[in-house]
Amino acid sequence: MAILVTGGTGFIGSHTVVELTGANEDLVIVDNLSNSKECVLDRLEQITGKRPKFYKADLLDKDECEKIFKENDIESVIHFAGFKAVGESVAKPMMYYHNNLMGTLNLCELMSKYGAKKIVFSSSATVYGLPKSVPISEDFPLSTTNPYGETKLMIERILADICVSDPEWSVAILRYFNPIGAHPSGLIGEDPRGIPNNLLPYVSKVAAGKLECLSVFGNDYDTPDGTGVRDYIHVVDLAKAHLCALKYAREHKGIDYFNVGTGTGYSVLEIVKAYEEASGKKVNYKIAPRRPGDIGECYANPEKAYKMLGWKAEKNIKDMCVDLARWQEMNPDGYTD
Ligand code: UFG
Repeated sequence: MAILVTGGTGFIGSHTVVELTGANEDLVIVDNLSNSKECVLDRLEQITGKRPKFYKADLLDKDECEKIFKENDIESVIHFAGFKAVGESVAKPMMYYHNNLMGTLNLCELMSKYGAKKIVFSSSATVYGLPKSVPISEDFPLSTTNPYGETKLMIERILADICVSDPEWSVAILRYFNPIGAHPSGLIGEDPRGIPNNLLPYVSKVAAGKLECLSVFGNDYDTPDGTGVRDYIHVVDLAKAHLCALKYAREHKGIDYFNVGTGTGYSVLEIVKAYEEASGKKVNYKIAPRRPGDIGECYANPEKAYKMLGWKAEKNIKDMCVDLARWQEMNPDGYTD
């Protein structure tokens, strides 16, 4: 009996594979390598001593994916695969809807056909849109501000409808806040293509001298120092949440939703300072206008995940920055095959 990990060579997927392997779970990765590299498999083998079984396939190619279900006794799925860049989704909405929704539908149809009716899905705090207050709980109103977020919310709803239609299904929706950091080995981490959109990859590249200066998007938010506040979570903590969610899905039918964050918010300027301390390097920055679509404050109430999954974040902001700095130091240009 194996777990199918879609997007298993990506940032969060690869860290989850390490944890699953450590827990002696049998797993199979499927990834089209559209935003990751095959050498991640070598790194995973270095860390765990075991090379994960891998299929290079696209979820849009249903026939190719069906082979995976035929050749393996898939029991459950952890579904990471999908496009994830907010700005790109605004520019290319059709590409985002087609890829994220069709890929998931193909996957669910195969899961249904082969009786693998347990799934942990990577959703996002983006489904809370502009939250009415913080911290954010799972029962807050849902809305989205861009096509990427819309695909996450639509997939949540598709999975809810599947559960209504078939009581055999178990679905755990994880709504991630801001995953950062890297594995403490420095062997796997986040490797964005081109110029990073997200704060921490950008900060680490400025500190390493690869980019000149961070633009801090707005210092006039209603936050203690005026810069945006987010709930940054160590990717290893996040990876562990998937194991807890999978255990929960194995024991409970139906759908449930969990915030995965630390419950603490940090501002952009606090992050800059924490990274400078962790890396011993200077992060040049300038204040720039607000980024369209950004919100001032976003952090989780993570109580539900603690109560129902027995999960809580263990690593602090210093751990996140130290591990990211190590990854950057050991892989100055990301994964190079
Ligand atoms: N920021 C900067 N400069 C940058 C990049 C970011 O000041 O160069 C600021 C942003 O304005 C924000 C904070 O840093 O205040 C974090 O920005 P990120 O782009 O790293 O993350 P977001 O919170 O905007 O978005 C992330 C994920 C989305 C997800 C969302 C959920 O990237 O996929 O969290 O809330 F939808």
